Amino acid sequence: MSIKPILFENGILKMIDQRLLPAEEVWLEYTDYRAVAEAIQTMVVRGAPAIGVAAAFGAALGARNIVATGFEEFMAEFEQVCAVLAATRPTAVNLFWALERMKTCARAHAQLAGADLKARLLDEAVEIAEEDERLNRTMGKNGEPLIPDGGRILTHCNAGALATAGYGTALGVIRAAVEAGKKVAVFADETRPWLQGARLTAWELQKDQIPVTLICDNMAGHLMSKGEIDCVIVGADRIAANGDTANKIGTYTVAVLAKEHGIPFYVAAPISTIDFAIPDGSHIPIEERAAREVTHSGERQLAPTGVAVRNPAFDVTPARYITAIITERGVVKGDYQRGLQALVEGK
Ligand code: MRU
Repeated sequence: MSIKPILFENGILKMIDQRLLPAEEVWLEYTDYRAVAEAIQTMVVRGAPAIGVAAAFGAALGARNIVATGFEEFMAEFEQVCAVLAATRPTAVNLFWALERMKTCARAHAQLAGADLKARLLDEAVEIAEEDERLNRTMGKNGEPLIPDGGRILTHCNAGALATAGYGTALGVIRAAVEAGKKVAVFADETRPWLQGARLTAWELQKDQIPVTLICDNMAGHLMSKGEIDCVIVGADRIAANGDTANKIGTYTVAVLAKEHGIPFYVAAPISTIDFAIPDGSHIPIEERAAREVTHSGERQLAPTGVAVRNPAFDVTPARYITAIITERGVVKGDYQRGLQALVEGK
């Protein structure tokens, strides 16, 4: 049973504080959408699908407090709520996808009176969360045949249960392989600077007794050159129509290394992560985060005061480095432009 990082109970949104893991397991409670926006921005909750789910609940919480005389007035305020939630992190498209879905839901139920409309929006957020976990399990089943029995699998960042409503995308495929009876050994890149691999991937895999070995980011090439990695699997924050994939900073480096060593490089992501509005990865906005994430580790200063710092949180892996994209509707290889489009059109 993998962890569910986002719960909604008795009118309260509860999220495990991912900033404190693995040292402390603290659950924070939210009833105000602005606090949810801050939680997304400050990475209490992170990972593309989880950000979308949190934003959907945030929107439902925001809707709850709107006092309006008619639908148009309600909708104008609801748009404001969604705009605050949308302004938190720019790269993961699931955030905007989830908020669009909430707005579409509101418009589709314009005839409902205030309380019923608010209840419908909460139901929609619950459905987004439940659907996410369901799709992850399907994605796992679709991707699991790509994982060899006895496979030594490298992953980067955390695309696990913690990054979703449950089960995970990349780690979901690994979980499905384990459930299918395969032996696996996972290598987790620590993922500087925020250490999602060390703090989160290692934590959740260890909790589920899936063998995991932590490595520093700069060790991946060495292990590959020694024949110690059979495949790489990562998640995604946004996939362009041609298959170019934005994911945690350092993913591109791993993909280039994998190609050099002839190691398959897989991306696992739900259809909601694909942004068909952009033709290629050059259109994906890349979040730049605070210099302090690089210069400090907690309170400890690692670099001289005042040093110039760059801190892009994501990079784009060109589609040509990707062996396959695993989704809940199937696995796409080769011509991503056509293959991804065919998946959504159900061909
Ligand atoms: O900055 P983060 O921790 O939100 O970045 C997360 C990632 O890059 C994940 O790999 C991605 O969102 C996929 S999560 C299923």
